[in-house]
Amino acid sequence: MVNKNAPIGVFDSGVGGLTVVREIMRQIPNEKIVYFGDTARVPYGSKSKETVTRYSRQIVRFLQAQDVKAIVVACNTASAYALDEIEKEADIPMIGVVKPGTKAAAEATSNGKIGVIGTEGTIGSGIYSRYIKEINHDVSVIGKACPLFVPLVEEGLWQDPVTDEIAKRYLTELIDIGIDTLILGCTHYPLIRSTVGRIMGEGVQLVNPAYETARELKELLEAEHILNDEEAKLGDNRYRFFVSDAAEKFKHFANSIIKYGILSAKVIHIEEY
Ligand code: DGL
Repeated sequence: MVNKNAPIGVFDSGVGGLTVVREIMRQIPNEKIVYFGDTARVPYGSKSKETVTRYSRQIVRFLQAQDVKAIVVACNTASAYALDEIEKEADIPMIGVVKPGTKAAAEATSNGKIGVIGTEGTIGSGIYSRYIKEINHDVSVIGKACPLFVPLVEEGLWQDPVTDEIAKRYLTELIDIGIDTLILGCTHYPLIRSTVGRIMGEGVQLVNPAYETARELKELLEAEHILNDEEAKLGDNRYRFFVSDAAEKFKHFANSIIKYGILSAKVIHIEEY
């Protein structure tokens, strides 16, 4: 019998998955969270499917050792490359961030032209297009890799002329094609949502997979009868953060995006799992 009071495991290649954690905290505040950010091996976006899958497997083993009741793959690249494999091997529910965003985008488009921005890995995998076409075959999906967005966000340049300039270069192609819906298909992009939105213009709806994932997670926990109905108390190990390197830097970034103070982040040796 699964303990409803057990935490949800959430992982990402680094800090980006905290945008998903933030949404889980908002939408299902009773849930406890164990987060792992692979800060020693980030980025995943430029690595191969085999490598990202191996890393993801190790992280799942670590999270299962923390007795989590479900796992959220909060990284788009890991969801694109590894989720199919690792969910077959796990005996607890698992969701990624790709599928929830595709449903929202397929519902949002009126002209049938959806853009997706993400890492090279996510865009190269073609996964967003595949899932959207399963929902509606007539929609066209245009992917654009935006590799410079991750370092810009991590440098804190969320509102900056440099980010504006790079965003214009990346997004012009999607504007010219006339998309009416754009999926922010990378963990970091919700943090530059206002820049992307301004450049795309009012006619383009932005889909934030972090928000959609938290919504689907809630539905999944309800369906599995493992939604936590005990009110969470501060300080009872409600949110725990682990990283593979540079805990101080992680904490600093985390505190800039999550209201709830990150009390500590512990370094673990992920290669041992
Ligand atoms: N978390 C990754 C993603 O959402 C972005 C950072 C990376 O490349 O590892 O795809």
